[in-house]
Amino acid sequence: MKSYVILISGRGSNMRSLLEANLPGRCVAVISNRPDAAGLVFAAARGIPTVVVDHKAFENREAFDAALLEAIESHQPDLLILAGFMRLLTEAFVRRFEGRILNIHPSLLPAFPGLHTHKAALTAGVPVHGCTVHWVTPSLDAGPIILQASVPVHADDTEDTLAARVLEQEHLLYPKVVRKLLEG
Ligand code: GAR
Repeated sequence: MKSYVILISGRGSNMRSLLEANLPGRCVAVISNRPDAAGLVFAAARGIPTVVVDHKAFENREAFDAALLEAIESHQPDLLILAGFMRLLTEAFVRRFEGRILNIHPSLLPAFPGLHTHKAALTAGVPVHGCTVHWVTPSLDAGPIILQASVPVHADDTEDTLAARVLEQEHLLYPKVVRKLLEG
């Protein structure tokens, strides 16, 4: 059975959708760069080893990534799943996991990379928005797209209503992709 590690930074609702999906693989650890990430509580309650690698404790990105790498490698995962992990990773780190590291992003990439994607979609006036699961490469939000899900944008949408509609799709899309990858 293949194994995976999930990286989070906060709420962890995508992590939760993965853990509740009865995937054909074993989640061997949930790692957060923030000690107060709510998702850690949920993972620990399910008996999954949780680890905090607090980015604030490191002098620079390289030192943080080295510590993160060590925490991950002790579990030897087949897949490394970024689920609301909000730190930029160094090129060396990403290369180490190339072909095994994936991310979910709240827009239809290549539209709206980076932060505040729902606000950007509303400002641009697009009729359709959504989410993307993609392989992670050293360029931010630019790796090969695996699968996307779209939602309509309504005339009366706010950032919050649009985010909620997209998040609902994220929770379906990520388990669907990870299941396929775990099945090989
Ligand atoms: C999700 O919408 C995810 O797509 C996004 O952060 C949110 C995390 O929510 N990720 C990014 O923006 C990555 N650049 P969650 O912690 O409840 O899964």
